[in-house]
Amino acid sequence: MTNVPPLGIGIIGLHEGRTLLKAINLPIPAPVGQAEEVRYRAPHVRVVAACDLNLQKLDEVRADDPAVFTTPDYAEMLRRDDVQIVAIYTPDAFHADHILQAFAAGKHVICTKPLVNNMADARRLWAASRGTDRRLLVGQSVRFFESFRRQRAAFEAGEVGALELADAHYIHRMDWYYRKSPWAANATDWIFLGMSHPLDLLCWYLGPVAEVTAYGAHSALASAFQVRSPDICTVNLRTVDGRLGRALGHYGLHELPSARNALELMLYGTGGTSLAQYHDMRYLYTRPDGTEAREDTLYALRGYAFNNEAHGMHYGEFASYAETFALALLEGRSCAPTLEDGLAVFAVMEAARQSIATGQAVAVPPILEEIQAG
Ligand SMILES: NC(=O)c1ccc[n+]([C@@H]2O[C@H](COP(=O)([O-])OP(=O)(O)OC[C@H]3O[C@@H](n4cnc5c(N)ncnc54)[C@H](O)[C@@H]3O)[C@@H](O)[C@H]2O)c1
Repeated sequence: MTNVPPLGIGIIGLHEGRTLLKAINLPIPAPVGQAEEVRYRAPHVRVVAACDLNLQKLDEVRADDPAVFTTPDYAEMLRRDDVQIVAIYTPDAFHADHILQAFAAGKHVICTKPLVNNMADARRLWAASRGTDRRLLVGQSVRFFESFRRQRAAFEAGEVGALELADAHYIHRMDWYYRKSPWAANATDWIFLGMSHPLDLLCWYLGPVAEVTAYGAHSALASAFQVRSPDICTVNLRTVDGRLGRALGHYGLHELPSARNALELMLYGTGGTSLAQYHDMRYLYTRPDGTEAREDTLYALRGYAFNNEAHGMHYGEFASYAETFALALLEGRSCAPTLEDGLAVFAVMEAARQSIATGQAVAVPPILEEIQAG
């Protein structure tokens, strides 16, 4: 779309939120040795306002872009007419409150993963979504990472045939995260905070889930930081149409990244197999003759994806989902993952949490029904 003024974004929560701001308002760095050409990642959006309780973070944002209005008061940001989309990057437990306030102020919403982390908030969100025409995009960043986009495009073109099994993991040592964000240890659960990535991927490919069995355990690292929830999880699921998915999480491990990237998704289909990786931005797949092919876009796209910090922050994915959402809003379309998609993934995560707690298989449809009962 050309000649349309960009939609204004107001961000709340300025750690990952600052990444979104830099990804959108600052140009893509030119490749080393090439002439500087000013190009933005997301031309249909512009960050116009930013909010955080931490005043130092507001100073940092003004240093990034002095034109951005800053405030520690969320209500003040919500009153601004130049904010059409609110982007939420506060700790998991605050997402529902911040979404509901944004809807009440007439704003569209981008909410980072996990959409919510408890049944009461899922119910409140479902009820609110029935009474608003505002749209929401769940910021499931992995879906918007180049290797995963390529895998999806090939899947939709039929290159793996009918999907029979999907296998995803997210593994990442988190001592640095507990030091930066103590709420990760005591105010959420890894089944939501970490497993939202692989479980979203499984739901995206496999569709409605019938039943989940899961196990959880505490790593030595989790015990050292007095982490409330298990930080090692295995989840098996069966879909309504009888296919299988498997997800693994480990947040206290010693990483071996050349063997296993932090995030991977394997698809096993009747016509082929494919693998997408994060951080390495590799996409591997079988050709029709059975040979293996490999695409590696990391260095070609490191300016867009990582601001030239070869394995850096989430600039590319965040800008990509903001741009995709803005285009959908401007064209009057909805855009996945929607609020309903997010609640379906939440129901799978909640089933896994219950299965870990009880040692029993847990059916997913009754959880969704309970959410939709409001
Ligand atoms: N790949 C991804 O998409 C990705 C990656 C990391 C984190 N996340 C998600 O992003 C969210 C934030 O994670 P983080 O690592 O940036 O956390 P963080 O603790 O570093 O930052 C949260 C910020 O929110 C601010 N805040 C808290 N309450 C507020 C309020 N009421 N009003 C204004 N500001 C408030 C805090 O001051 C802090 O600056 C979490 O939900 C996390 O799960 C997503």
